[in-house]
Amino acid sequence: MILVTGATGHVGSAVVGRLASLGHDVVAMVRDRQTAAERLPPEIALRVADYEDASALKRAFAGIDEIVLISSDGEASAVMRHHANAIAAATAAGARHIVFTSIVDVDDRSPFYFAPVYRDAERRLAACAVPSIILRCGLYCEFILDHWLSPSQTSGELVLPTGDGGVAPISRDDVAAAIAAVAANPDKSPKIHTVTGDLALDFDEIAASYGETVASQVGYRPCSIDEYRALASAQLDDPWPCAFSTLCASIAEGRYSRVSNDFAVLTGREPESFRDFLRRATTATEA
Ligand SMILES: NC(=O)c1ccc[n+]([C@@H]2O[C@H](COP(=O)([O-])OP(=O)(O)OC[C@H]3O[C@@H](n4cnc5c(N)ncnc54)[C@H](OP(=O)(O)O)[C@@H]3O)[C@@H](O)[C@H]2O)c1
Repeated sequence: MILVTGATGHVGSAVVGRLASLGHDVVAMVRDRQTAAERLPPEIALRVADYEDASALKRAFAGIDEIVLISSDGEASAVMRHHANAIAAATAAGARHIVFTSIVDVDDRSPFYFAPVYRDAERRLAACAVPSIILRCGLYCEFILDHWLSPSQTSGELVLPTGDGGVAPISRDDVAAAIAAVAANPDKSPKIHTVTGDLALDFDEIAASYGETVASQVGYRPCSIDEYRALASAQLDDPWPCAFSTLCASIAEGRYSRVSNDFAVLTGREPESFRDFLRRATTATEA
């Protein structure tokens, strides 16, 4: 039996769908049955638990062979605690294997707000009795579109403190495909995969690609961290101005430009290109 956490989310629900369609015995961990009813097919078995509730997690993981732990989100100390609770509960429940979604930049010199959170989870996984496979995921295409590109359409200017840094974006659907491929694979030897798009793009290229897709001129203007943080603070609650600006600093340091072919090795196909993703996403929005 494979249990997927975060199963009402974008990535988790896609993993559940893929594993179910491959005929696996899949269980969705959710925190609210009503949300699950809206986002998951009715035939999917549910277990209810919150990452904050250690005993509920242990009950949810009882009798499960493999746990797909989709990373949590929010304030760093809470996310760190969520991952720690889930890893401890998986160990206590006697799970045989964990698949965890980490991030590409877990370096201890990284400026990124979430780097220590994922380093902590990876260290806990390495130290725990349950073997694990870690997927270090690149920046999601949807993140770039929703948070940075869509808001830039009106002004025609994408203003970010990312310098000359590049990213190799990967769509959430492709991340889900890689996770499902790992979870379905009988080879459970501990490994770390890096799951990125197949091309690193700088932000001139990203802005130009978006401009072409929406038939509107969009250019990239690099700015300082302070300028971006002031803009972000006017629009976003904590911790996001800090999280997004330190992510940009990490990108500017070249930490997100790595291209890996692990996705193709895991799934047997190339990931969707950023250009194709933009076409698909903007067509879906218009429809
Ligand atoms: N690489 C990137 O660019 C990038 C960008 C953004 C996020 N991420 C990471 O990738 C993960 C998956 O992305 P996504 O788009 O699928 O996120 P999402 O749609 O926001 O889904 C997050 C899932 O986590 C669940 N969750 C949140 N807090 C929880 C808690 N305390 N206990 C139990 N479940 C909880 C949510 O449940 P509810 O439905 O009940 O809220 C939801 O099912 C995120 O959680 C984040 O860690 C990566």
